[in-house]
Amino acid sequence: MLQLRRITRSYRMGTVEVPILHGIDLTILRGEYTAIVGTSGSGKSTLMNILGCLEQPSSGHYYFDARDITSLSDNERTDIRNVRIGFVFQQFNLLPRLSALQNVALPMVYAGYTRSERRERAEAMLERMGLAERMGNRPNQLSGGQQQRVAIARALVNQPELLLADEPTGALDSRTGEEVIELLSGLHGEGLTVVLVTHDPSVARRSGRIIRIQDGRITADSGHGAGPERQPGAGSDGRSRPWNAQHLPPP
Ligand SMILES: Nc1ncnc2c1ncn2[C@@H]1O[C@H](COP(=O)(O)OP(=O)(O)OP(=O)(O)O)[C@@H](O)[C@H]1O
Ligand SMILES: [Mg+2]
Repeated sequence: MLQLRRITRSYRMGTVEVPILHGIDLTILRGEYTAIVGTSGSGKSTLMNILGCLEQPSSGHYYFDARDITSLSDNERTDIRNVRIGFVFQQFNLLPRLSALQNVALPMVYAGYTRSERRERAEAMLERMGLAERMGNRPNQLSGGQQQRVAIARALVNQPELLLADEPTGALDSRTGEEVIELLSGLHGEGLTVVLVTHDPSVARRSGRIIRIQDGRITADSGHGAGPERQPGAGSDGRSRPWNAQHLPPP
């Protein structure tokens, strides 16, 4: 599903280019659940941002379903990011002035849903996250765990094929973090491809595959744990959306 070939990324600091990722080669299969681990500053978020089309690599190629992302226009890349990829961050990144419902509905504006469709789908997704009673609350009126569940609802509402989570439990206490991990495991169980960054070895062990990054290089990879590439419930457009088809009204 995802292929990185000799991906590098460097940042310009004043007059010098500081290399961060040094030729990453990585293949992720549809349906896999991958954990990325490594010390602070090793390049995990940089790699996730490239996978999520939030950043472009300095060199190398990124193929998403065999399509070379690195050769696309900014608009084409934005479309892929909005519709096919969901992203969850450590600090939730919700818009503070919007309600939970409005936060979840927002990505659907760009995906071209009508207002009533957006409302209906955002409500269904928040209900699924156990937040039926909290839809009108703004982020500062929610607990950390609730905010992260709103963020996950927002990441899922366009029915992405890939969910990226950069330390999704990093800002949560261990019990709330556990609930979020349970939620992600459940989504993976329903067929969603998940890549997560974590500092927590017990979280990493529950994934199907652990990749270690050190100084911008992959230094260990437990290999494909989720079995061969599979496309459960792929729709007529060939996109796999098995995990929430029964929970949401059709697009
Ligand atoms: N926009 C930027 N400009 C310059 N340097 C950057 C930028 N973003 C990241 N870096 C540098 O790239 C390196 C890798 O950063 P990255 O955020 O990918 O690390 P990380 O593995 O996610 O760390 P952490 O576990 O602390 O989140 C760091 O040395 C960081 O200072
Ligand atoms: Mg990081």
